[in-house]
Amino acid sequence: MTSPIILVIDDDKNHAEITAEALERVGCRCHVATSGTEGLDWLTRERYDIVITDLKIYDIDGMEILRHAKAQDPSVEVVLITGHACVTSAVEAMQKGAANYLEKPINLENLRTLVKNLLEKQALSRDNLDLHRALDKRYGFEGLIGETAAMQRIFDIMAQIAPTSATVLVTGESGTGKELVARAIHNGSRRREGPFVPLNCAAMSGGLLESELFGHEKGAFTGAYRKREGRFESATRGTLFLDELGDMPLDTQAKLLRILEEQKVQRVGSNDLISIDVRLIGATNRNLSEEVEAGRFREDLYFRLRVVEIQIPPLRDRKQDIPLLIKHYLEEFQLLHGKSELTLSPAAQKCLVELPWPGNVRELRNVIENLVLLSTNPTVELEHLPSELIGSAVALPRSAPSLSAGMSLRDAEKLLIGKTLEQTGGNRDQAATILGIGVRTLYRKIKEYDLR
Ligand SMILES: Nc1ncnc2c1ncn2[C@@H]1O[C@H](COP(=O)(O)OP(=O)(O)OP(=O)(O)O)[C@@H](O)[C@H]1O
Ligand SMILES: [Mg+2]
Repeated sequence: MTSPIILVIDDDKNHAEITAEALERVGCRCHVATSGTEGLDWLTRERYDIVITDLKIYDIDGMEILRHAKAQDPSVEVVLITGHACVTSAVEAMQKGAANYLEKPINLENLRTLVKNLLEKQALSRDNLDLHRALDKRYGFEGLIGETAAMQRIFDIMAQIAPTSATVLVTGESGTGKELVARAIHNGSRRREGPFVPLNCAAMSGGLLESELFGHEKGAFTGAYRKREGRFESATRGTLFLDELGDMPLDTQAKLLRILEEQKVQRVGSNDLISIDVRLIGATNRNLSEEVEAGRFREDLYFRLRVVEIQIPPLRDRKQDIPLLIKHYLEEFQLLHGKSELTLSPAAQKCLVELPWPGNVRELRNVIENLVLLSTNPTVELEHLPSELIGSAVALPRSAPSLSAGMSLRDAEKLLIGKTLEQTGGNRDQAATILGIGVRTLYRKIKEYDLR
């Protein structure tokens, strides 16, 4: 069992440190963030068991932290720290998924008991979740959803190679789930107790990237005030995930190749070789064989990386997975945002299945989250879908006009009667009841507006 890891976010630095110390004394590992931005940054980099956050931070609201933490990992427990005056917002936060709140100044003994209970509860539910996932493998693998043959084949490969230490290259368009696949492979390996260290190679210039990857000695370059270990070292006994690998400069590629061959790394500015014990998973949305062709990617490195290559097809090539993903995200976001059940009308669902989804699963996920947050009806109809989305569905009929201010009462009445009749499949008795008018009046209006 590794020790639980906790993120403490509080712009009152003293308070944050006292809290962290109290928890470290009972065996927890703690990270402290003294601003909301720093907190969110940690949240995207690490997986926490518990997040303890002040409700009022100067830059970002505690509720926002709660939302991000839960979106990142629904099983994380979030505890809010609040001043006496803000107890109502804390209660609201609990309705939105926070585990509990404590009033300032916090009683450290109470805090420790709360944390202990939360960890126990969480271990139980995570066990259940693991079991559930294992049983539900027919439809997915480690949080990855897909029942199409293409996805099933990917899950099979993953199950086969996860326990080994083989280098893996994951390719696919943006938003197809490359990082999710990499994390699932890590979680399915013996390295799961070790760290999963992601690094985006596109976001940095060559020099900076090398010092991130390999580390550097004090004084190795201007600004290197302290010696620092690189990501290869931090990923010891775990997995290093090199994202956007196709964007790595050629010089750095050469160094990476040498490391993979020698299994040793050299910090920038040092002559010592440090042995590494890391599994490498790379990802890119570029076509690496084309990059090789164009002289932008080293062929020898390409061969070295693609010992196993997992190509994730774009969502539009596996449309049968879309209903399953919709269902999954509806459930997830209803739970996360404490919303009541939402369903899609057959027409709306069909539209979503037929869209080209250039942003793949990420885009679909965002659309569903928006619908869950903004829908006022329990059923999402075609016309409730975001218009910019429908605009991209070439084969789709123009969306019907919808009720809105600026319309005459007569047009509104016509539209409403028409829609109600549509909904009742032409049944006039039912439509009259829904509209709260007599059947005779309805007949008259149908004739008047020529609604047949
Ligand atoms: N098969 C899937 N089942 C469930 N969720 C998925 C699946 N594929 C992707 N997702 C979700 O879609 C989002 C994008 O996934 P991810 O970040 O892994 O994509 P990516 O391929 O790394 O994208 P990029 O190239 O833009 O970095 C995440 O929220 C992820 O959880
Ligand atoms: Mg990614």
